[in-house]
This record gives sequence, structure tokens and C-alpha cells, in this order.
Amino acid sequence: METLLFDSKNEGAVEAVANILKNGGLVAIPTETVYGLAANAFDEKACANIFKAKGRPGDNPLIVHISSLNMLGDIVEEFPEKARLLAEKFWPGPLTMIMKKSEKIPNVTSANLPSVAVRFPAHPVARRIIEETGLPLAAPSANLSGSPSPTSFEHCVHDLMGRVDAIIDGGPSSVGVESTIISFAGEKPVLLRPGYVTLEQLRETIGEVEVSHAVLEKLEEGEKVLSPGMKYKHYAPKAQVTLVKASSEDYIKYVNEHAEEGIFALCFDEEAKKLSVSTVCYGSEFSDEEQAEHIFEALRIIDESGAKKVFAHSPKVTGIGLAVYNRLIRAAGFDVIEL
Ligand code: TXA
Ligand code: MG
Repeated sequence: METLLFDSKNEGAVEAVANILKNGGLVAIPTETVYGLAANAFDEKACANIFKAKGRPGDNPLIVHISSLNMLGDIVEEFPEKARLLAEKFWPGPLTMIMKKSEKIPNVTSANLPSVAVRFPAHPVARRIIEETGLPLAAPSANLSGSPSPTSFEHCVHDLMGRVDAIIDGGPSSVGVESTIISFAGEKPVLLRPGYVTLEQLRETIGEVEVSHAVLEKLEEGEKVLSPGMKYKHYAPKAQVTLVKASSEDYIKYVNEHAEEGIFALCFDEEAKKLSVSTVCYGSEFSDEEQAEHIFEALRIIDESGAKKVFAHSPKVTGIGLAVYNRLIRAAGFDVIEL
């Protein structure tokens, strides 16, 4: 398939990709979290094609993106009070909420679940594309299943060239990790995936929020999960990654003691010059925002470096750090050492 490439800065680009979407096509679009692979959420065939293009298992549901609260009526059965409070504070933005699904949303989109995930992105290009199509857009991250989520146009081209109708450049994603997901499908609100909107902020706004144990821990074989995406290893780097929980000093000492051919350190900016192995940095030790912004790009660089074994310095597990930790521990296949 021929993949058309657009730059959102060029006149007519947004209108052109909106037309492709209206005609049932697939387009990778920028959002502030990561790029998404979009299709008309009401179009069964187009949504089925998303799964094919990504190589995504059919039981892993898609997020539906909107550009105004008016669109919600056709997507969800009800808009719970607590979800309303969060929408007031964090929409548009990097927050996804799971609610009871309307019948208009086809089963392929929600992978046969009675609920649907909804997000109102803040990225101006994403919003313009949704507005121009006049349709809610189903969009998972625009990576091939199993590789890190794409935070730039180049990442999308790398993964999806020849597999989708178009890719539109909207610059690098500023948040860098996928949206926070909270579910209102059960009795109590549950955090399913940590992101830029933190657990602390959610609790401040609506009170009690449970945390799915899959956020920090490995699932048991065959365990039933609230969010199917949690089952998959997700970001499976080619190298064997170990997450190291330690102070900077202990981390540097440990890595230097294990310095060998093919060993890489995935470290904070401040640590690189003190390490005697190859390094890839993912932001300052003191900025969880920077760490989130760069983590997926860093994992892609490591994949291309030919690294055999990677010691990743663990971020803290509070604030946005929890989101970064959640992605890294999956990349490490839950291989953690604590010094
Ligand atoms: O930031 C983001 O959320 C990006 C951008 C493109 O918006 N999208 C994204 O989509 O990360 P995806 O498909 O890569 O991750 C969506 C996650 C999956 O783990 C999926 O299992 C879960 O959301 N999910 C979607 N609908 C759900 C539902 N009804 N119930 C439980 N989990 C759901
Ligand atoms: Mg994804």
C-alpha cells in the first residue's frame, strides 16, 4: 500500500487526512502523548484494519478520541459525575476515561467489552483533524505491536510505512508516554495505566482511586485483567533489560563493576559521564517530565545500538515517575534488582 506523507504546517494537509479518514482510511496522527493510528470509530471495517496494520491482538480495545464534549452522547451510555469532574480539570489533555459504551460503538472498537475508552486530546493538530472529520476517531498508539510507542513522525514512518494510508507530521509529542487511564466501568474508579495526569492529581479531584495491581506487578499466567493491554509485554526491546533500583552512586558503582562488551546503561543525564559503559540518557534525574518525554525515544535508540544487555536506572514511583516506571518495568520483563 502507498503511504502518503503530510506536514501539518502545510496548507490543506489537515483537510486531506480528514478526507482519508472520512473514506474509511487509516492515518497516523500526532497527539501530545504519543502518535495515534486513527480511523473512524463508527466504521467497523476501518477499525478492523487498525488491528491488521499494527499486528494487534483483537482482544485489545481501542481508545476513542473526541474534540468536544458534545460528541460523548454518541459514544457512552452515561457520563458519571466523577468523570465529569475529571473532564473539567484535565480535558483536553492526556487522560483517558473508561465508561459504559453506547450501542453506536462497534464491538471491534471495544474488543467486545461493554465499556469504551474515551480521550479528548489537547494537541492542536489532533483536534483539528477530529473537528474536520466530524467523527470520533479510534486510535491506539501508532507503533507496530511490541515496539515502543512513537513520539515522533519519524518513528511512525519507521513502523508503519506501506501499512497505512497516510502519516501526518505534527512535531514531537511533548508528554512522551501514553495517557493516564482511569476506569469508571466498575463500582469504584480504578487507575489502569499511569501517565502525565498523576494518581495524586486524580485523588485530589475525585477522592478514592484504586490502583490496578497490573500497574506495578506482573500478572499471573491466564489472570483476568481489567485492561487487556496490560497482558502484553508491550515494549519488548531486543536487548535484555534489567531495571536497577538504587541511588545514583550505587547504580554507577554497580554498572561499572559489570562493564563488558555490549553492556549499555539507560541512565539519567547527570550519570552518563561517570559510567564506563555505553550510555543512553532519558532525562534529568530531577525531572520526571523530561524522563517521560524521552523514555520511548531512548528505548528505540537502544534497539538500534545492538546492545546485548541494558541496566536501566529506575525512576521514582511517584508523580509522573510512576508512568515512566510502569513502561520501563514492562520493557524489562519485570526483571528488577534492588541495591
Ligand atoms: O495516549 C494515548 O492513550 C494514546 C494516544 C494515541 O491517544 N493511545 C494509546 O492507545 O495509548 P493504546 O491502544 O496503545 O492503549 C490503550 C489501552 C490498552 O492497554 C487497552 O487495553 C486499554 O487502553 N483499553 C482500551 N479500551 C478499554 C476498555 N474498554 N477497558 C479497559 N481497557 C481498555
Ligand atoms: Mg499502545
